[in-house]
Amino acid sequence: MTVIASGQAVHVVLFPMMRGEMTVEAQHLTELGNQARNADGMPDASKLSAADWARVWRSADRLSRAASDLASPAQIDVVGSQARIETDGSAWASPANEIKRYIDRDRGGFADRARDLGHIAEQFKRAANTHDAGLLGESAARLDEVCEACHLRFWYPDPKPVE
Ligand code: HEC
Repeated sequence: MTVIASGQAVHVVLFPMMRGEMTVEAQHLTELGNQARNADGMPDASKLSAADWARVWRSADRLSRAASDLASPAQIDVVGSQARIETDGSAWASPANEIKRYIDRDRGGFADRARDLGHIAEQFKRAANTHDAGLLGESAARLDEVCEACHLRFWYPDPKPVE
């Protein structure tokens, strides 16, 4: 549970949300997107069962709720994580207090990135509702970019080398 409603205020703890529903549901959606193709790699709705399409909808709904919480004026807590960005054999990271500062100084930009995720989640739900394998594939192909757009700006705009 990463969102705690206390009175009117929503309180988001970023790390468990990212490690939890964001990672899990994005993975489901990517896998289901790959599954919904024929041998030539073309979109093919018949490759997904009714249960699979329902799974697409549920995963998208979870991402959509997480996106709304991130776009809301929630209190966002960054507890710090062990996450490292590995490039060319070196490890990089941003301390939790820096991540918090990146977010606090541009809540509008953070909310915009969260809304972009919300829009793509809604697109996945439309694909699920209409069993549209083409739209599912397009959405899956764009999902990483949408996650990454926020990460580049608010997670590691200026990462520091770590041991
Ligand atoms: C609105 C901004 C935003 C969006 C959208 C977003 N993230 Fe994140 N994510 C962050 C920030 C900020 C961090 C670093 C904070 C932390 O790790 O505590 C992060 C960290 C992570 C981490 C590292 C967790 C760890 O510390 O081990 C993972 C994994 C992750 N995000 C997955 C995703 C996936 C998958 C998506 C898209 C489905 C996504 N995120 C979308 C802001 C976002």
